[in-house]
Amino acid sequence: MVQVENLKKQFRSGKDVKVVVNTSNWVAKDGSITGFIGHNGAGKTTTMKMITGVMRPTEGRCLLNGIDIKENPIEAKKQFGYVSDSPDHFLRLRGIEYLNFIADIYDVDTKKRMDFINEYAERFGMTSALNQTILSYSHGMRQKMMIMGALIHDPSIWLLDEPLTGLDPEAAFELKKMMREHADRGNSVLFSTHVLEVAEKLCDEIVLIKKGNIMFNGTLAQLQSQYPQDMSLEEIFLDINKEESNE
Ligand SMILES: Nc1ncnc2c1ncn2[C@@H]1O[C@H](COP(=O)(O)OP(=O)(O)O)[C@@H](O)[C@H]1O
Ligand SMILES: [Mg+2]
Repeated sequence: MVQVENLKKQFRSGKDVKVVVNTSNWVAKDGSITGFIGHNGAGKTTTMKMITGVMRPTEGRCLLNGIDIKENPIEAKKQFGYVSDSPDHFLRLRGIEYLNFIADIYDVDTKKRMDFINEYAERFGMTSALNQTILSYSHGMRQKMMIMGALIHDPSIWLLDEPLTGLDPEAAFELKKMMREHADRGNSVLFSTHVLEVAEKLCDEIVLIKKGNIMFNGTLAQLQSQYPQDMSLEEIFLDINKEESNE
């Protein structure tokens, strides 16, 4: 489970202070796929970076399976796998070297890592690419490699920042299936997206963020019950964001 408590992030440039995230409490529950939904610039990536300890919050805290990322960063980091919004890392390593490097960091034993690599490379159609450098990969292949690296230590929490961007349809289908399987085993999957059709089909719970503020956290059915019948998530989302342009 991920618990986010009164999280705030502000950036300073000169005398200006820009508050980009300022949220009430919200959670990504065990056994659920939670969609973190918002326009570009709403604050999704900044929030993900604070949850994972990449960025320090101005205020508030984040707990991963009850462990505070700031108080106990190593233990907290063992709880999750994180796919950031850019897959362009460790470009000089071959895919297999990258995966072994990450597996070493997380102390994954040889059999477990080999089983994982064989299974996931097969599922993602990456087997023949394992011996090539990440530099030679397409965007989608890099994305698949980052996903494999994030999951190789079998973390209970998956934190995925726009994970479907740039994936081919087969890989997107596989990843969505993996997310479902992982959540159904009682784990928690939190993924950000601005693609509402995906969120609508895939998520058990949603967190709506607008200009750094959480507008809603609950099931799609709960959100829809606040609106006229038969309104899609897309229509509701557009409505929530429209209200703002009239403010
Ligand atoms: N390092 C930074 N300095 C100043 N502003 C930033 C920084 N990082 C992000 N922002 C701003 O924070 C806001 C939220 O960005 P981001 O979290 O990337 O949104 P999203 O992932 O939802 O598209 C944007 O207005 C962005 O320009
Ligand atoms: Mg983003």
